[in-house]
Amino acid sequence: MTGRPDVLLSVTVVRPDERRLLDALRAAGTTVETALVADIGNVLNGSAPPPAVALLRNLSHREAAGIAHRLGHLGVPTLNTAAAIDVCHDKGTQALLFARHGIPHPTSLHAFGHDQVRDIALSLGWPVVVKPLSGSWGRGVVRLTDPACLEAWTGGRESADAAGKLFPVLVQEYVEKPGHDLRVVVVGTEPVVAIERRSADWRTNTHLGATVRRTEITPAVRDLCDRVVALLGPGFYGVDLLEDVRTGELKVLEVNANPEFAKSSAQHGVDVAAHLARFLADRVRHLAAA
Ligand SMILES: Nc1ncnc2c1ncn2[C@@H]1O[C@H](COP(=O)(O)OP(=O)(O)O)[C@@H](O)[C@H]1O
Ligand SMILES: [Mg+2]
Repeated sequence: MTGRPDVLLSVTVVRPDERRLLDALRAAGTTVETALVADIGNVLNGSAPPPAVALLRNLSHREAAGIAHRLGHLGVPTLNTAAAIDVCHDKGTQALLFARHGIPHPTSLHAFGHDQVRDIALSLGWPVVVKPLSGSWGRGVVRLTDPACLEAWTGGRESADAAGKLFPVLVQEYVEKPGHDLRVVVVGTEPVVAIERRSADWRTNTHLGATVRRTEITPAVRDLCDRVVALLGPGFYGVDLLEDVRTGELKVLEVNANPEFAKSSAQHGVDVAAHLARFLADRVRHLAAA
């Protein structure tokens, strides 16, 4: 690295998303450097100049959180903040936070062992969703429809994880949705695009083949995003919402701190990278003026 960059783009690898971001940041008039973990080490150790702001796009949540915490202590603002990354990393933390602040969310309870999974499933009623506290792409997220299903899940887990190290898990009310969920991309404080993710599978992750279609940012969608931003601070988020077809209520399922956007931008036509680059360029200008 040479001079002090406006934006440091912390990455594990440069994916199409980051290539788009680099182009957009340069087009927005900011200087930008990409940084692998060793480059971050150089900034922390004083052998490379600290940037005005850092944008974290590391694939590992844990790595991103560690870097955000350390850069924060160095006095470098990060997007997202370390605190927001911590919350987004843990679906259990999100459930507690949403419940405490009255944000609609499927009923979600922590289970620290198989007995607790069974007891919660019986109290919530079938089907229930069981998921790891941390994960993405729908991995490990299962829908248990009856006691036989639970027995199969328990047997599989016991043989693969006899010591129960993969607990706690989250046991969640299953929300009947209209064949799709909603992914809303928030830049700063603003929802910039909402998409329906539709699939034949009950899990609507695009990694599992869901198709995407742009949809309206309704007042109800905006309101939930505003409430999430009020809790986590301005940032770059993928806010996932479910509509409960029985009540019509929208619920926040989860907030992702490192949403992918290149592939879906090509389909819905909203230039997410340009929005993010403009937000960061404004942030840099404000910091310089302060
Ligand atoms: N409680 C639920 N009710 C209905 N559908 C759910 C529920 N939990 C998860 N899903 C579906 O499964 C997908 C993956 O679950 P999610 O909790 O978002 O895990 P991941 O972080 O791996 O994406 C969601 O996008 C949604 O379509
Ligand atoms: Mg998800």
